[in-house]
Amino acid sequence: MKTLVYTQINSDYAASMNSSLQNFLADIQVLYSNIRGFHWNVSGKNFYELHSKFEKVYDDLSEKADEIAERILQLGGVPESKYSEYLKVSKFKEVNSIISGSEMILYLLEAYKTLISSERAILAKASEAGDDVTVAIITDYIKEQEKEVWMLSAYSL
Ligand SMILES: [Fe+2]
Repeated sequence: MKTLVYTQINSDYAASMNSSLQNFLADIQVLYSNIRGFHWNVSGKNFYELHSKFEKVYDDLSEKADEIAERILQLGGVPESKYSEYLKVSKFKEVNSIISGSEMILYLLEAYKTLISSERAILAKASEAGDDVTVAIITDYIKEQEKEVWMLSAYSL
């Protein structure tokens, strides 16, 4: 791929990283849709707080999907955009969004656990190959999500 000629990134590494990033993109996209459902369907005494919180979360996931898709392109790949394909590889399944606010918060905590685990694996691979750009992107995600986990854990309904 022409891009790699100029960036001087090893093509075998790029192909391998891209297969990890495609799975990660699928995770983010399916999770995005699930959290958007929570935003729409949350109800109860914490409605305003949770409705607004879930909007921030899915907006953040949307930005991350874009950043990961564009990193795949920089590494010479073609980002997948079909949900039918995402569902084949995503660690997340589609969920029923008619659940309680506290169940949604617990789901989100588990989701961060899953994302952080994938991110640590991507980080190790990128770091070993000296791919500092992917390292920087993923390190930021882990930094943000560890803080989110702390705040969600401190929040009780
Ligand atoms: Fe909305």
